[in-house]
Amino acid sequence: MESYLFEVGHLLFRYFHIVAGIAWIGASFYFVWLDNNLTNPPQWKKDKGIQGDLWAIHAGGIYEVAKYKAGPEKMPEHLHWFKWEAYSTWISGTLLLSLLYYVGADVYLIDPSKAALEQMSAIALSIGCIATGYLFYRLICKTSLINHGLAFATIALSFLTLWTWGIDHFFADRAVYIHVGALIGTCMAGNVFNVIVPSQKQMVKAIAEGKQPDPQFGLIAKQVSIHNNYATLPILFIMLSNHFAFTYAHEFGWLILIALFIVGMWIRHFFNLKNRGIVKPGVLVSGIAAFFVVMAASAPWHTLQSGKAIAQAHQQVEVSDQQAWQIIQSRCTECHSQNPTSAMFKSPPAGFVLDNLAQAKQFASLINTRAVVTKDMPLANMTKMTEDERALIGVWVNKAE
Ligand code: HEC
Repeated sequence: MESYLFEVGHLLFRYFHIVAGIAWIGASFYFVWLDNNLTNPPQWKKDKGIQGDLWAIHAGGIYEVAKYKAGPEKMPEHLHWFKWEAYSTWISGTLLLSLLYYVGADVYLIDPSKAALEQMSAIALSIGCIATGYLFYRLICKTSLINHGLAFATIALSFLTLWTWGIDHFFADRAVYIHVGALIGTCMAGNVFNVIVPSQKQMVKAIAEGKQPDPQFGLIAKQVSIHNNYATLPILFIMLSNHFAFTYAHEFGWLILIALFIVGMWIRHFFNLKNRGIVKPGVLVSGIAAFFVVMAASAPWHTLQSGKAIAQAHQQVEVSDQQAWQIIQSRCTECHSQNPTSAMFKSPPAGFVLDNLAQAKQFASLINTRAVVTKDMPLANMTKMTEDERALIGVWVNKAE
């Protein structure tokens, strides 16, 4: 019952998180686009204080959007704030993190081969690390560094690299990636909560009082929204990374993450420039090229070749179906079965079932990927698969293919 409730909660929170995240990032993309596509308005609009306007057609309706230089003469009755998109993404993300990585700490957060943490200390450590990272970010935002984009990015990324490398020493690989996502997401939502919304409140208050709003408020909000903007592509990669064990389970997974983070920011830079009318294809091309360089540099060449190499090295070793099946049955079937005997799973994780030799043969290449190449299965090596057994499976798969 308990693990069923866990699964239902997982579905619910993940669903909520994705919907909220789409609304947030979607609104963010839309406003960046909007800002960069405003046209010079006719004089009568300028006389009303309108700085730029834009006409658009969408879903059978024609829209007219106007951006005020400071604000309208009178505040309208309804003003949409675009803050709950951010808050609900953060709240649902926190729920999802707490369920998977705190309630399910033994499975997802703790890796005994890195640090034998107790559940409670692991949770405290996780919260402490995210809080420290967030405070550091808030602190550097208060310094004059904020006015120097490149210097700010350098300091922030250096800190993030150190932080990621640090937590890689005690959290499970997959948790490392998600913690970077949680930290960045917290900084982004924190920007909305601590900076953008308060400065907008000041702006609205000034307009309501018939005063000229201090442009400083808008400026601060703009600076941190640029940070959020550059973080959008990297954070989306982190959210997808759970499906790509070859990234997070890599020996230098933390470095791959940072490299892809920078690549994501660089590609975002291309679109930001393009939106301002500056088209620099070199930025996009070098970003995509850098992605492939990271992929090539991190490819598990030695294990990719291992099937053949091990087979050659073990030429005399015949791995029989029976022998392979025994290994799989003792290391995988506990979880990957129609009726798992594992205390943690009541249904086969990822729907992946290895209940008999025929299934093992059918999915041999998947078994090879996760148990021989990326080695992130068995999960947290709970069933204590040995290196020898991985090699034997490698030989078997290679012969079977
Ligand atoms: C303690 C439980 C557990 C054990 C033991 C385990 N796995 Fe998994 N496995 C999981 C979970 C949880 C997932 C889903 C999350 C993921 O894909 O990383 C998964 C996913 C997979 C997937 C991805 C399936 C898909 O289609 O997405 C493969 C392949 C896999 N495991 C292979 C293996 C192999 C091979 C073994 C034995 C060497 C093994 N697992 C042992 C828990 C386990």
